[in-house]
Amino acid sequence: MMEQLKNKNVVLCVTGGIAVYKAVELLRLLQKQGAKVRVIMTRAAMEFVTPLTFQALSGEPVFTDLFNDNTVDASIRHIRWAEDADLVVVAPATANIIGKMAHGIADDALSTFLLAVRSRIVICPAMNTAMYESRAVQRNIDILENDGCLLIEPGVGDMACGTSGAGRFPAPADIVDRILTLMTPKDLKGRCVLVSAGPTREAIDPVRFISNHSSGKMGYAIARAAERRGAMVTLVSGPVDIEPPLHVKLVKVQSADQMKEAFLDAMGDADIAVKVAAVADYRVKNQAEHKIKKTEEQLVLELEKNPDILKCAGQKKRSDQVLVGFAAETQDLKENAVKKLEAKNLDMIVGNLVGGGKGFGTDDNTVTFFFKDGRVESLESMDKDQVAHILLDRILSLHSKGQ
Ligand code: CTP
Repeated sequence: MMEQLKNKNVVLCVTGGIAVYKAVELLRLLQKQGAKVRVIMTRAAMEFVTPLTFQALSGEPVFTDLFNDNTVDASIRHIRWAEDADLVVVAPATANIIGKMAHGIADDALSTFLLAVRSRIVICPAMNTAMYESRAVQRNIDILENDGCLLIEPGVGDMACGTSGAGRFPAPADIVDRILTLMTPKDLKGRCVLVSAGPTREAIDPVRFISNHSSGKMGYAIARAAERRGAMVTLVSGPVDIEPPLHVKLVKVQSADQMKEAFLDAMGDADIAVKVAAVADYRVKNQAEHKIKKTEEQLVLELEKNPDILKCAGQKKRSDQVLVGFAAETQDLKENAVKKLEAKNLDMIVGNLVGGGKGFGTDDNTVTFFFKDGRVESLESMDKDQVAHILLDRILSLHSKGQ
């Protein structure tokens, strides 16, 4: 869970389209981020999914009608909810509500509420492609974007009406991702952040390799967090199974040699460089050109040392750059981490104990920060996304101090 939506009041405005059922999933994902979500529905939306579904999940009555409602605050609920809202999400947004919002029309509970809103409004259009591409809808979307609404572009693909094109409701997880970005202060704006993540693979022959258990999750979390905070991010990644964050420059590599080239190449432009990757320390000395056959009873692989990429980066580091490493240890965390911090000329190293189910592949991490000036900060076990944000906070203060 990220902090941006924690305890925030979000109002989900559901208008009538076939994608209404996907708003149910969106509601749950927003709640998972800690948001308190209230729901308003139009009459048309209720034709697709009953308010009861949203009521049961949000734990609050769904606001559907300005007049035929006997509850105490019904007549001013649209104003109260608008005042309380930290964020409003219109999803799915029909051509009709987009048109009404663009022109200030308030003729039901949902559109009247929207006129009273002062917080940011996110709009997720979903409709037939021809309707979406129509001049009227595009004109109205332009008006709303100029008014400061955030438009989440609909997806392209097969539509419920049998056609194919733009107009599909985006994946709820992508909507939440964009919302988190919107809600994140842009304190890294203008800074270039370089992250390397994942394992490397060192070929034995054309079909086999040596590698390690690194999942890339920690490095990807840092890249994602930096992007959300406004940085221009380059992510040099070994082979991993996870989706890259949106809007980062992804450079895919396999071996330590390739990672070295890509990382040092990008280092020149970086203000901040974070080396999370689990680089294979050794590679096979004589890689076989063809697949090794199992003719021998024993096979001995001769290994030679890979370059220490972080050490090279430390030697090249300018005084205006902040360089951060990770130290994966199975014992003596402090001693080993501090040794690496000094040997590689780092500003900071993040130590974590790995092995026994800890660190690699998990969503949580327990880390300790060791700083060049001797300070030590231990964090409790938390989500890798949260670790990433705290790490960026510390890096930012080092960078702002002109380390
Ligand atoms: N690292 C690197 N190039 C290598 C090995 C490590 O850039 N060939 C970087 C890692 O990305 C990490 C830091 O150095 O940021 C520490 O990596 P780690 O594997 O903990 O330590 P090593 O330096 O490899 O030392 P050892 O394996 O002896 O613990």
